[in-house]
Amino acid sequence: MADGPEKCREEEEEEEKETEYPVYRKRIKHSAEVEERLEREHFWKIINAFRYYRIHVQERVNRTERQFRSLPDDQQKLLPNFLPHLDKLRKCIDHNQQILQAIVSDCIHMFENKEYGEDKKGSGERIRPASTFDMDKLKSTIKQFVRDWSETGKMEREACYQPIINEVLRNFPRDQCDPSKVNVLVPGAGLGRLAWEIANLGYACQGNEWSLFMLFSSNFVLNRCSQVNGLTLYPWIHQFSNNKSPADQIRPVRFPDVNPHSLPPSVNFSMTAGDFQEIYTEFDTWDCIATCFFIDTAHNVIDYIETIWNILKPGGIWINLGPLLYHFENMANEFSIELSYEEIRSIILQYGFHLELERASVPSTYTENEHSMLRYLYDCVFFVVRKPQQQSFPNCAAKENGTEKRAALPEMERNGKT
Ligand SMILES: C[S@@+](CC[C@H](N)C(=O)[O-])C[C@H]1O[C@@H](n2cnc3c(N)ncnc32)[C@H](O)[C@@H]1O
Repeated sequence: MADGPEKCREEEEEEEKETEYPVYRKRIKHSAEVEERLEREHFWKIINAFRYYRIHVQERVNRTERQFRSLPDDQQKLLPNFLPHLDKLRKCIDHNQQILQAIVSDCIHMFENKEYGEDKKGSGERIRPASTFDMDKLKSTIKQFVRDWSETGKMEREACYQPIINEVLRNFPRDQCDPSKVNVLVPGAGLGRLAWEIANLGYACQGNEWSLFMLFSSNFVLNRCSQVNGLTLYPWIHQFSNNKSPADQIRPVRFPDVNPHSLPPSVNFSMTAGDFQEIYTEFDTWDCIATCFFIDTAHNVIDYIETIWNILKPGGIWINLGPLLYHFENMANEFSIELSYEEIRSIILQYGFHLELERASVPSTYTENEHSMLRYLYDCVFFVVRKPQQQSFPNCAAKENGTEKRAALPEMERNGKT
């Protein structure tokens, strides 16, 4: 018998679960028919999440109201503005819902090569409860509007996007090459601002994004919003803690801070939808790949490095800025391998990349609420590596070319898993 107390049944069960490691495998491919059905269901699930927002957030406010009303009368009297503030919050929620409604209203036909038919599960316009997970994604997407398309996000973009843009300009000087012939890929493009900025400088730029929350929203801002600061969101209303004043919670943020349609007329800018690793299989295609707050979204970051290595042209560069907040680290049943920067750096070099620039400490924020009493600061790594003209690494023997489809602005393309 082992030393110490015997384990109780629950502990044993926990241990059994512990040994059931999530298996590292590529995504299971179903038959084309099943894939279609799953995609359609996912599409409608996300549309439903957009529609459910108001109900979800109003319920949060209702809970606050119930709790306030349960306080003794003399305590309630100390806060005469508390309930009026909740009414203001409700108006902000209604307003956000109108924007979300506008976002989803025309996304049924947003993909060039795909129609999603009718919502089979929902009967007509009936809204079904959405998961907390999806509601959190939606709230993050609302905050991404601040980072990408508002004056408020300018400082954040200066910290995160500008170093990348500067490296694109330095490596492909516009007075020495034709920028329209330089192909830049931005995987994990979010709401598309970095890709848009690169295209705005005349480079041929493609953003790629996996999340339908982001894709619906970037489609809206890139294709449907042309009036500078013409629209308003209330991104901070979901934050009930760490507010210095009630007014901070209901601060409006206007967007877009630039007209997304103001790109030079002949510029080649596009967005693709789907998993970066599934879509980009064609070897030696890109002159530059720019990743910002992206590589830690991988189940296995080595797969990302390999894909980037494969699809970069010999002589092409990979620019990266971001932290290593591994997205799958704490998700049950998800494979996740969390490597330190030192380990990633070593792998990059083993692949054969040449390190051309490295800054190990670039402070930056991510969708920061600048009035909040809690603020996160990331200490990012920033590097530029080059795939040499001649490669010697054994992994890089040419494989069969895959296909990659491209869509020109303004329409998006759906490709692979979403
Ligand atoms: C942390 S966000 C960064 C967004 C943007 N680059 C920025 O700096 O604001 C990471 C983005 O990568 C997207 N993403 C995650 N895995 C992806 C994949 N396999 N292919 C394409 N996009 C992916 C997510 O949906 C998310 O929008």
